[in-house]
Amino acid sequence: SKGNHRHYMLKEIYEQPIVVAQTLRSYLQRMDETITLPIPEFELSGIKRVTIVACGTSFYAGMVAKYWFEQFARVPVDLDVASEFRYRAPVMEAGGLALFISQSGETADTLAALRHARSEGQTIAVVCNVPTSSMAREADLLLPTHAGPEIGVASTKAFTCQLAVLAALAANLARAKGQLKPGEERQIVRHLGEAPAAINAALAYDEAIEAMAGVVATARDVLYLGRGTDYPLALEGALKLKEISYIHAEGYAAGEMKHGPIALIDDAVPVVVIAPSGPLFDKTVSNMQEVQARGGRVVLISDYDGIQAAGEGCVATITMPKVHPLIAPLVYAVPIQLLAYHVAVAKGTDVDQPRNLAKSVTVE
Ligand code: M6R
Repeated sequence: SKGNHRHYMLKEIYEQPIVVAQTLRSYLQRMDETITLPIPEFELSGIKRVTIVACGTSFYAGMVAKYWFEQFARVPVDLDVASEFRYRAPVMEAGGLALFISQSGETADTLAALRHARSEGQTIAVVCNVPTSSMAREADLLLPTHAGPEIGVASTKAFTCQLAVLAALAANLARAKGQLKPGEERQIVRHLGEAPAAINAALAYDEAIEAMAGVVATARDVLYLGRGTDYPLALEGALKLKEISYIHAEGYAAGEMKHGPIALIDDAVPVVVIAPSGPLFDKTVSNMQEVQARGGRVVLISDYDGIQAAGEGCVATITMPKVHPLIAPLVYAVPIQLLAYHVAVAKGTDVDQPRNLAKSVTVE
């Protein structure tokens, strides 16, 4: 049931601190501060390349994972949407790991891609929320998310749980590859362990987000910008908005604006900038200022320090708790979900059952 919530989507957004904690519990060993996978003896050290394949929101989780696997484990990653993967004759070397990410475990394109990778001799890992699903059953390494049933067509809690599992996998791969410095695994465990409370703190901005949703609800087009792991988050923010509010939205890598999309900027196109303070903050802010210099109306999502530094001149700001960059994608998912939700409610669309969409796409 929806409990006290008006929609399943809102209920599922609010469940995130609990289900992310639940998911992390099966990967983080709090006693000795290590990270383990459900099959502890699964050998990751020989993996030379990872191929990640998924659709929609699960694909964006995979895109965050690509940044993590390359940064922490120094393993090269190929990333594809499932519908493109199979038909572009992908090259997979023997001994590769193919990783499929799916809430339902039944998405037809992803399942077909999995079978193709299997036929090419890849080891199959699956991050999945339904342990009885086709993909879960066909995995060599099943990495479950424990989000519980997700009813809203717009994926929310499955996404943050996928990120939690993928961060744990990245850390495991990094350890297997000898890429972790002494004490680093313990640090990662601590950072991930802080995610549920930080997500909870992000939820406290629900009313503030509802109050500013009008900036976006009246627009015809909206852009989302981010760098690093905030780039996939920008893509996810745009997907959330378009699928439930029917407002045209696009996500871009912040640095890519000047290569074309900045031509779209005028005062009718709100630009949502996702920029937690950290190593990439100044770069993103300079892209944001290029937008503002052309009359663009910016909604800045950052932490207190980031908003102090760059919030002036924005039409709205959304303040997040200050978090370690590793968990920022899990935390910043919350305001983009809530923004899409409140815009959709303001527009009166069917939030849980948007037009033309099915929860699980079992046709190609
Ligand atoms: O069940 P899956 O994770 O395989 O589904 C993939 C996509 O169909 C799904 O994420 C879709 O994009 C959502 N409606 C996004 O909110």
